[in-house]
Amino acid sequence: MYPNSNPNPYLPFPARVERVRFESDDRSLKTLWFSFLKEKDREAFSFKPGQFIELSLPGKGESPFGIASSPNEELIKITVNKTGTVTRAIHQLDTGDLVGIRGPFGNSYPFEDLFGSDLFIISGGFAFTTLASLTKYLLEGFRDRFGKVDLVYGARTPGMLLYKDLLHEWRNNPGINLFLTVDREFPGWTGLVGFVPDIVSRVEVDPSKVNCFICGPPIMIRLTIPKLLEKGISKEKIFTSLERRMKCGIGKCGRCNIGPKFVCKDGPIFRVSELEGLPPEY
Ligand SMILES: Cc1cc2nc3c(=O)[nH]c(=O)nc-3n(C[C@H](O)[C@H](O)[C@H](O)COP(=O)(O)OP(=O)(O)OC[C@H]3O[C@@H](n4cnc5c(N)ncnc54)[C@H](O)[C@@H]3O)c2cc1C
Ligand code: FES
Repeated sequence: MYPNSNPNPYLPFPARVERVRFESDDRSLKTLWFSFLKEKDREAFSFKPGQFIELSLPGKGESPFGIASSPNEELIKITVNKTGTVTRAIHQLDTGDLVGIRGPFGNSYPFEDLFGSDLFIISGGFAFTTLASLTKYLLEGFRDRFGKVDLVYGARTPGMLLYKDLLHEWRNNPGINLFLTVDREFPGWTGLVGFVPDIVSRVEVDPSKVNCFICGPPIMIRLTIPKLLEKGISKEKIFTSLERRMKCGIGKCGRCNIGPKFVCKDGPIFRVSELEGLPPEY
């Protein structure tokens, strides 16, 4: 069933930009916060970390974006990388501008099913959005339900790291071991230096207790999975978020499928064991 009060899943809910902020020093990444114009839409919009929205701008088009806010937050937050027509138009938006939002769509990280385990959260680049949502949500209300929690997050440069306010908070939070890394040395950078898969190799985890969540560029995911398998972690315990071109977001148009799987509906989050036997295009 479509998860909102609106019976037509193609009809966007009207929403307003409440806040904007450039996230990266090169201004290619912009974060926007939205509120729904109608109270009943706000009440009906319930999501879990890992899900995405379709954001539309009249006359420009519609694109999917992972939800970066925690489900406990009042406003919906996304971070947008400027790449083409729609994302360029989103970068022009300012406080008070109106947009359409459909969703939430897709599955979520199987958070509640994993209570009692350790968590290894791994991310790179601006794909950190949904895992930032998950980490915030976990620390807000579920920290005591998990054992050790490790987070590896990498970006090309210190200036490209998202959500520096949250990272600062988490660095001082004893509930989480934060491993921040950038690709090469930078003046003033005191964190780790190296690619995400190499840092993942260096983090000690108990393969019998840990579940892993990965979201990042395809190359990072491809190189990270073998590092986790080398640690003795089984493919059932590694979850990764896939990204495909999408249109409808609800499993109808056939734009996003990999073999028999619809990334928008069956995913975007899959166990690595589920991906075996699929065409290697992901
Ligand atoms: C589930 C999901 C979640 C996403 N979350 C985010 C997010 O949080 N932040 C964000 O910035 N982007 C996210 N994306 C990607 C985003 O949807 C695309 O960048 C956007 O649709 C591009 O639209 P455009 O009109 O600006 O670019 P276009 O003019 O359509 O394309 C510009 C360039 O981007 C490439 N591109 C377009 N869509 C995708 C895609 N889905 N995957 C890879 N390359 C693509 C095109 O091949 C082309 O090279 C997500 C995509 C999916 C499927
Ligand atoms: S985007 Fe239409 S089927 Fe997935």
